Amino acid sequence: MAGLVVERVLHHLSTLPDQPIGRYASRATLEGMLREPPPEQGQSLDAVLARFDAQIAPNACHVSHPRFLAFVPGAPTLASVLGDWLCAGHNFFAGVWLESSACAQVELVVLDWFRDMLGMPASTGGILTSGGSEANLTALVVARDRLPFADRGRFVLYASRERHSSIDRAANVVGLSPAQVRLVEIDAAHRLDVADLRRRIATDRAAGLLPWLLVGNAGTTSTGAVDPLGDLADLCRDEGIWLHLDGAYGWAAVLDPEGRRTLAGVERADSITLDPHKWLAQPFEIGCLLVRDGSLLPATFAIRPDYLLDTAPEIDQVNFADHSIALTRRFRALKVWLSMQVLGLTWFRQNVTRCLALARYAEGALVRAGFEILSPASLSVVCFRAAYAGADAAVDRANLDLAEAVRRSQEAFIASTRIGGRVALRLCFVNWQTTVADVDRVVGLMRRLADEMKSDALARE
Ligand SMILES: Cc1ncc(COP(=O)(O)O)c(C=O)c1O
Repeated sequence: MAGLVVERVLHHLSTLPDQPIGRYASRATLEGMLREPPPEQGQSLDAVLARFDAQIAPNACHVSHPRFLAFVPGAPTLASVLGDWLCAGHNFFAGVWLESSACAQVELVVLDWFRDMLGMPASTGGILTSGGSEANLTALVVARDRLPFADRGRFVLYASRERHSSIDRAANVVGLSPAQVRLVEIDAAHRLDVADLRRRIATDRAAGLLPWLLVGNAGTTSTGAVDPLGDLADLCRDEGIWLHLDGAYGWAAVLDPEGRRTLAGVERADSITLDPHKWLAQPFEIGCLLVRDGSLLPATFAIRPDYLLDTAPEIDQVNFADHSIALTRRFRALKVWLSMQVLGLTWFRQNVTRCLALARYAEGALVRAGFEILSPASLSVVCFRAAYAGADAAVDRANLDLAEAVRRSQEAFIASTRIGGRVALRLCFVNWQTTVADVDRVVGLMRRLADEMKSDALARE
């Protein structure tokens, strides 16, 4: 029985570059196909898989496809998928040492790998999470836990205008009012403007508020910009502010010598979010939070109710359930550990270096094809647009239409963002299967579609 699923997955992974990327269907269509009460009696897996093949798989996109270049994609290797399968099949309970000591040990090892890649000190501890959003939230909870209850209404969080939305969500969840969040200006390269930050901190102190936490970007989602991390670390040290870095997308660039230089200062964070399910080729879901003073994690989260008395760890044991909000948690470290053992770190280094080069190559190919670059390759993101003659709104609309036309082709998948208020199209390279030929194909496709749409866009002006 299992063979049916294994065969499907192996076939899927080995043919992925030649498959259409996929599409979405209307809610009405999917309701018609899939709405039903749970069947009272079971049926053969064959029959159920036939429905998976006909109704589910074709109506979803393959974000691991080498020409899926929107958002921040994810593209696991077979080794990491196998690690995930082993994890699900064994159903280890990776919450407490008593039940899964070796799983906790592997998680400790994997966290230390990440710590060492970033160059953080031995005091660093961490937790593997569902993703970057949970890691960012966990960081804010840990940092907030240090604050006296009486003053919590006066603490202020700073983040650049380019922060990821999970920061806003986390700020809300930890109970900050909008008046306690400052959005700092950015410079021409979309990096946090340190002078504006200094001004805002001084203004807040003068008003009797308590500057508390700064979120720096180690690779923004929109443009791949890296904030001046060393300057931010200096300022946070001088001002006594907690420095949290969001490296969910960009952190893996430390595996490349040039990327490491771009991320100089990352090792000085009080806490940092990383997403192995982005650029470390792991299947969803695996994020990670590292905290410079690792003892703060259990200090924030550990609770020992009566029914868990037996699970109290010895001094040198770690209950990862004490490091964040989840008690029951899967053995996420296994897929990283297994794929690192099978492929070796060099494979991951080369993938990062290749993706950085692909972004630079894409920038050149876009210029040659007549696209306007709005943000040059930064880490592995490049932003651009088709330059139509016409009013701003019409050009914005035409570029949104272009992205939609690319998606409809199912040959490639791209999406938009805004840069300086204008619609920009965006390519993000993290996929180990994406090649130069894929870049040429996507750029060629966009050029052809943009030319076809040109007359349309102008006609609607
Ligand atoms: C910079 C950044 N931070 C946080 C996140 C959220 O991570 P996740 O989607 O894993 O929750 C993302 C997702 O793209 C991101 O790019």
